[in-house]
Amino acid sequence: MKRDFITLWDLSAEETDRIIARAIGLKAGRDAGKCPLIGRSIGLLFEKPSTRTRVSFEVGIYQLGGQPIAMNPSELQLGRGETMADTARTLSRYLSAIMMRTHAHATLETFATHATIPVVNGLSDLHHPCQALADLMTIRERKGILKGLKVAFIGDGNNVCNSLIQAAARMDFNLTIATPEGFEPNAEILQGARETAKSEIVVLRDPKEAAGLADVVYTDVWVSMGQEDQTEKKKKKLRDYQINSRLLACAKKDVMVLHCLPAHRGEEITDEVMDGPHSAVFDQAENRLHAQKALLEMLVR
Ligand code: CP
Ligand code: NVA
Repeated sequence: MKRDFITLWDLSAEETDRIIARAIGLKAGRDAGKCPLIGRSIGLLFEKPSTRTRVSFEVGIYQLGGQPIAMNPSELQLGRGETMADTARTLSRYLSAIMMRTHAHATLETFATHATIPVVNGLSDLHHPCQALADLMTIRERKGILKGLKVAFIGDGNNVCNSLIQAAARMDFNLTIATPEGFEPNAEILQGARETAKSEIVVLRDPKEAAGLADVVYTDVWVSMGQEDQTEKKKKKLRDYQINSRLLACAKKDVMVLHCLPAHRGEEITDEVMDGPHSAVFDQAENRLHAQKALLEMLVR
C-alpha cells in the first residue's frame, strides 16, 4: 500500500519522531553513500515558485541515488487541459513517488486519489508539512526536546501556521498564535488538532502576549503566494506583528527565531533579528534537505 504525506496527520507521533532522529543522523553523516533510491525517479511538480523545496528535494534525491524530475504544469499536457487524474495515472507508471506544490489543496488530494505512488505535499494553500518536519528537527536540534516547549507563531495564520498547529498536537509542544482579526489559521485544522492535543494551542491577538516567555518565536511572510491581490490590506493589518528586538525582549533569553523563508525583511521580520544571535533560519532551511531525505527513505519502497 502506498503512503502519502499530504498533511502532518499522515505520520504518527512515533513515525515523526523517527524521521526527526533519522534526519539528525543523516546530517551527522550517518550512512553517507547509502543509496536507497538507486534506479528510482521521483517527480517534482511545481504550480508555484520555489527555491528551498525544489533544490533540497533535487539534491536529497540525488544523494539517495535517485533521479529527480522537476516539472511545471505549463510544460506538461496539464497546461492544455489533460486532467490531474489522468496525469496522476500516467506519471504513476514511470515514477516511484511525486512531490507537488499546488495552489488549491484539493488538487493534491485529487492527484493522490488517482496516483498509485506516494504523493508528498511540497506546499498547498492549506498545508506545508515538509516545512513542519524541518521545523521540528531544528527545534529538537537546538533545544534538545519538543515536549512542553512554548512556541509562538506571530503574523498571518497561513499554510505554515496550519502545519505548525498539527506539529504541536503531534509532538506535545504548546503553541500560541497571534494574528489580527480575520487572519486566524484554518478553523477546521485548529479544531482537529485541539481534539487530539495534550498540549495547549491558543489563538490570540496580542503579539507581546504570544511572545511572552516563548522558547521559539516563528513568523512567515504576510502575503503568501497566490494572495498578491490582498497585499495592501494584509500589510496594513499585520503592521504591528513584526518580529523585532522589542518583541523578542518579551521571550525567554535563549529564544530561537524561526522563519520558513523566503523573508520580506523589514516587514514580518527585521534584519537585526534575522541576522542576530537568536536566528536559526538558515539551519532551518538546511534541515529541509535532511528531513526530506528521511521522509523519502520511509515512503519510497
Ligand atoms: N520554505 C519554502 O518552502 O521555501 P521555497 O518556497 O523557497 O521552497
Ligand atoms: N506562506 C508562504 C510560505 C512560502 C514557503 C507561501 O505560501 O507563500
